[in-house]
This record gives sequence, C-alpha cells and structure tokens, in this order.
Amino acid sequence: MIFGLCPAVTGQGFLICGVWIILEAMTARAVEWLEGKLRVLDQSKLPREQVYADLGDYRDVVLAIKDMRVRGAPAIGITAAYGVALGASAIETSDRDVFMVRLREIMHSFSESRPTAVNLFRSLERMKRAADGADVGEMKKALIDEAAAIHEEEMAATRRISESGAGLIQDGFCVLTHCNAGPLATAGYGTALGIIKAAHEQDKHIRVLATETRPLLQGARLTAWELKQCDIPVTLITDSMAGHFMQQQKIDCVIVGADRIAANGDVANKIGTYTLAVVSRENNIPFYVAAPNSTIDVSLNSGSRVPIEERSPDEVTSFRGVRITPEGITAANPAFDVTPHRYVTAIITESGVMREPYTESLKTPAA
Ligand code: MRU
Repeated sequence: MIFGLCPAVTGQGFLICGVWIILEAMTARAVEWLEGKLRVLDQSKLPREQVYADLGDYRDVVLAIKDMRVRGAPAIGITAAYGVALGASAIETSDRDVFMVRLREIMHSFSESRPTAVNLFRSLERMKRAADGADVGEMKKALIDEAAAIHEEEMAATRRISESGAGLIQDGFCVLTHCNAGPLATAGYGTALGIIKAAHEQDKHIRVLATETRPLLQGARLTAWELKQCDIPVTLITDSMAGHFMQQQKIDCVIVGADRIAANGDVANKIGTYTLAVVSRENNIPFYVAAPNSTIDVSLNSGSRVPIEERSPDEVTSFRGVRITPEGITAANPAFDVTPHRYVTAIITESGVMREPYTESLKTPAA
C-alpha cells in the first residue's frame, strides 16, 4: 500500500516557472482505477488533508471501506467491485474451479465490510455473474471490465438523478441536507448534492443548511467542503438545530441520500434522517430522497429488516482519538436509521421522480 499526498485536482494543465497551472475545474476523485491499482481519496482525513492511497491488495480495499476512508452507498459499491477485480487479478492459478473458490473468499471479505448499503451487495452479485470466460485470464479481464461498467453506470445515474431532481428546487430555496451525498459518496456527480448542484448550475439561487452529522461529521467535513468548491452558499448547523430552523420556516425542502430503500419506499439512511423526516412533516416541508436504482432493495417488503450497522462506541465517546466523555461512559452508535415511506414526499432515481404508492413506482429493473 502506498500512501502519499497528491493534489486534489485532475485535468489539463501546464508548467510555468515550476508552477503547475490547472486549466480544468477542480475535482477530487473518490475512487479511481489506475493500471491495476485502486486509488482512493481518504475521506476520513478531509478537509484538513487530501491524502490518496494506492491500494494493490484487496484486503486493504476491504479495510478502507470498513474504516470509512471510502464511504457513501454508491462509492462503497463501486470500490468493492474494483476491490474484487483487484483480488481476482492476484489469484495465481489457471484452474477455473480453484479460481472461483478463491474469488468467493474475496467476495465474502467484502460482504462483511459494511452491512447497510445494499449497493455493496448488488455489486458483489454482479461481479459473481461477470466471472466468466474461456480461461482464468479472460475471467480476470471480465471482472475489471464489470467493475468499470458499474462505475460508469453509477456516474451516469447521478447525472440523471440531478437533472430530474433539480426541477423540484425553485429559485431562492433554502435546502437542508444531512450527512454527505455528493461526489465523494457516489464517485460521480452526487445524488442529494447533485440535485443542489444542478439547480445551482441552472442559475437558481440556492442556499444550503448542512447538518454536521455526528459522530463522524460527514456534513461538517465533506458536504461543506464540496459545496464550498461549487460556490454554493452553505451554513453549517449542529444536528439538533434542524427542528428549530424548520419551525421558523427557514427551510423550503430537505434532500437526503439513502443506503437502502425497501420495496414500499422505507428509507435507510444516516442516523438522524428519521428525526428530520418527522419534523419536516410536522412543519409541512417536502422531504425528498435521492438515490440510484442500485440502492433499491425490492427483496425487502419494508425497512424493518434492513441490517443497521452498529459502529464502535469510541466514535461517540472520542473525537480524533481524544476522549470527550468521562472514563467508563458507554455509548450506542447505530450508523443508520429507517424512515417510514409515509414521511417521504418523493424518491428521485435515474428513472425519474417517484411518488406513492412506492410499491408500484419503485418497480425498476434491478441490475
Ligand atoms: O456512514 P456513511 O458516511 O457511509 O453514510 C452515508 C450516508 O448515509 C449517505 O447519505 C448515503 O450513503 C447516500 S450517499 C449518496
């Protein structure tokens, strides 16, 4: 594994007197396949440091997902797909059966990394189906191609979600968002943030209230960073301030991403989403969810069976390694909650703006 500092800019440029002049817009790529290695931007260090890791061993990719150096449902699915391709390319055998046994072990490691985002499991299913070819060499190539296809499709989906969703945002809107559902979380244009960005690109004047998103501060660290790069005005609030601003009629709509959406439209997303949805309803504020079809799990009738990840209590009792509670205090740390579909005004996917009854409108072709 090679860690190194490298610029969060990609694109055309030229050198003048030792200064690298960048011509294209600033973009930080969450995940990138580079000649047999997977380059990931370490989101746990943002925005203070932009550190990339070049991962050459699939076990490091599993760890990057577990430790949330890569996070966000679509980005997790894409990263796992590339990770499987990386692991497969290192399997030393020409025997197809031996190759498949080893490949299943690699996929199993990924399946245990994070339980809630269904994108991960959908990617693994696709990678399993893609492991085909006349010989092991062809199978390895097919896996790399499939991972790249998943990445391409997710990038295209976020574009379509953003275009569809932008129509819901009027000039002058103040939008509240929770956690981070931008390019970092999607390895594309973004879902919830993609819609906000698309509305901004249509010259609508949009302001954003971003919740800090305890305990890992994805809103304060990542959403604020991404919006600032797009010159979209953003005001940071602590999670507990959201109800106050809704009651004051300062918020026109809420848009969040999702980690898993059940067939009936129940939405699993970052812890705190349920509370926001209930308070939105109380104050007649539209509550939108933006997610690709790869986040919809039609095998679940409702959200009650979504596996909710329980993370280490240390993330709540400490911040960046410094304990903030008295010794001996225990903490609960569910990373997600489930919002019942009755609170969801619409779900925006690449297929369009879906409304109740979700059991009908979400019947989309799953890959
Ligand atoms: O724990 P995280 O940071 O992976 O949680 C991310 C979220 O909850 C996002 O809202 C969700 O994955 C959608 S990302 C487009």
